Amino acid sequence: MSKRNNDFFRKKKDWSKVKDELLGCYLKPYISKILHTRKPLIYVDCFAGKGKFEDGSFGSPLIALKIIETERMRSSAENPKIVSFFIELNHADDLQKNLDSYPYAKVIHGKYEDRIENILKEKEGCNIFLYVDPYGIKALQYALFDRFANGKFYSVELLVNMNSFGFIREGCRVFGVPFKEDIVLSELIEYEPTYMDRSEKSKRELDAIAGGEYWRRIIEAYKNELIDGYEAENQFAEQYCMRLRKSYNYVLNMPLRIKRGQRPKYRLIHATNHRDGCLLMVDNICNRWESLRDIQSRGQLELWGETTNNQIVDDKFVQEKTKAFFSQYSVWISLHDGLADFFMHNGPICSTKDVKKALRKLENDRRLEVIREPVLTPTGKKTKFMEEDKGKRVKLRWRR
Ligand SMILES: C[S@@+](CC[C@H](N)C(=O)[O-])C[C@H]1O[C@@H](n2cnc3c(N)ncnc32)[C@H](O)[C@@H]1O
Repeated sequence: MSKRNNDFFRKKKDWSKVKDELLGCYLKPYISKILHTRKPLIYVDCFAGKGKFEDGSFGSPLIALKIIETERMRSSAENPKIVSFFIELNHADDLQKNLDSYPYAKVIHGKYEDRIENILKEKEGCNIFLYVDPYGIKALQYALFDRFANGKFYSVELLVNMNSFGFIREGCRVFGVPFKEDIVLSELIEYEPTYMDRSEKSKRELDAIAGGEYWRRIIEAYKNELIDGYEAENQFAEQYCMRLRKSYNYVLNMPLRIKRGQRPKYRLIHATNHRDGCLLMVDNICNRWESLRDIQSRGQLELWGETTNNQIVDDKFVQEKTKAFFSQYSVWISLHDGLADFFMHNGPICSTKDVKKALRKLENDRRLEVIREPVLTPTGKKTKFMEEDKGKRVKLRWRR
């Protein structure tokens, strides 16, 4: 184990705070909703760490367990069942100690890539949530993600931290291409970075991580100076998400930056087959923006509020994007299907509320036709809601 690995748990860094904030805030509404499926939830933290940092801050396992406990107590679902597993290669003993107050939490000592399939065996019909937060890229075997999607589970969701710049650097290394943007990675502070050599075996290892050979063309374009390192990272993240979309209907690519105005350096990727899970994640990101700004205002981080091209996201921008996207629909589409497709196309650039506001304007301007169910309120007035909830349905179509 490298010294840097041990350093990681000394003091919780801003990067980790952001990841934990997003994980924790998503888990609350996710668990509350998923328990109503009446199917067990299997929660797996695949790279769990020590559970607690030396400065006393909670790591992802304690954050998740606290939420699991609260949501289980609060849930009105009948007999809610949640089983949680925490896989850790290097710090399983510390983790076990730190999770003492949760005797039902199962600590698994070993490698995620060796243990996960056994954990998920005989969990057919369950809801599966996997938090995948490795240091480097080496343990991210793409084939496993396909296998999870094809398992006979009730639902599967993945939240993956992907060091996409680290991947590009290694892609350059295996082809002997100098990587000029190494400065980006020195700002990121990598713990146990993955280093590859120039062998065919390393190339195949990168294929296995990426889920295909598409990354090789990106390195070729970088080598020929057709794109710079930022564009290479962007293209890799996009194509990685497209690859995931072969198995998961909804994949969100969430860029994280270190400083305002800079390009993203790191990606959080959320994959699910459930439309509403995707919309929940979009709103989670947008709702957390204020608290994430506190971390950022110390000069460390900038996340959303600008697109990956540093374009400002304001009402006008959302209005234009909404018009451009929904004007494609000449046949009826449900509001939530349309919203999920909007975010698949544009990324999580704003909240679902912002897009609904833009849709209302298009309706008022008579550009969009809307059918609501129920049509009338209990007092006999025409309904005007722009939401799909218990007993409320909305369909949209561009006016011809
Ligand atoms: C980025 S840290 C996880 C931090 C954790 N999410 C938290 O919030 O505290 C990655 C962890 O994965 C562990 N690890 C490294 N390789 C692993 C593997 N192949 N399988 C499981 N755990 C591994 C490391 O020891 C480290 O504790």
